Amino acid sequence: MRVLILGAGGHGRAVCEAAWDAGFEVAGFLDGRAPLPEVLGLPVLGPEAAHDGGPLLIALGDNAARLAAAGRLGAALPVLLHPSVVRARSAELAEGAVVMPRAVLGAQARVGRLALVNTGAIVEHDVELGEGAHIAPGAVLCGGVRIGARALVGAGAVVAPNIQVGEGAVIGAGASVIENVDAFSRVAGVPARILL
Ligand SMILES: CC(C)(COP(=O)(O)OP(=O)(O)OC[C@H]1O[C@@H](n2cnc3c(N)ncnc32)[C@H](O)[C@@H]1OP(=O)(O)O)[C@@H](O)C(=O)NCCC(=O)NCCS
Repeated sequence: MRVLILGAGGHGRAVCEAAWDAGFEVAGFLDGRAPLPEVLGLPVLGPEAAHDGGPLLIALGDNAARLAAAGRLGAALPVLLHPSVVRARSAELAEGAVVMPRAVLGAQARVGRLALVNTGAIVEHDVELGEGAHIAPGAVLCGGVRIGARALVGAGAVVAPNIQVGEGAVIGAGASVIENVDAFSRVAGVPARILL
């Protein structure tokens, strides 16, 4: 499938590499900072207004920005699943979900619209990721965890079984989360505590 990538930054380049590996034909990038020089040898065609109406991979690291861009552009949002991902057959992915190299999706895991499961993250059985959630590299979500829309689980964090993380919450890198996390709160540490 031919796609454009929205966002030509570091995450955009990572998504481009994953898209190539997954067999997509990447025609170029869109980026508000255009004109930019070529990125990974591909043209930066212009800002969002240069979108040709075709399928888009939205490679904006900010969770809310990813959802907002999808709303503005109304494009088809393919699922990007890197070929190295270990995916249970019963795992479900909504449109625009991106799953990066060596991630694991367990039985009946559900990855929401435009959610991002980053490199090497483990999303165990029955986990539910809300739309626009980001599970950063190496994070581990144990069975039955629920992550709200637009929440960020930082790199290397561990979330214990059946914990619920509210929408827009932020979990610090390396945290160990053993209690539910309220919407829009920020927690960090081992065990995780609220950051003031
Ligand atoms: C938790 C986090 C969001 C806090 O960021 P911030 O609001 O800029 O906070 P600050 O850096 O000002 O730190 C505030 C306090 O929290 C502590 N803190 C920050 N991050 C922490 C972490 N991950 N674990 C433990 N303590 C942490 C700081 O030491 C500081 O403590 P102090 O007040 O005693 O000095 C951020 O540090 C973090 O871990 N983000 C996740 C990044 C990530 O994994 N992104 C994915 C990229 S792919």
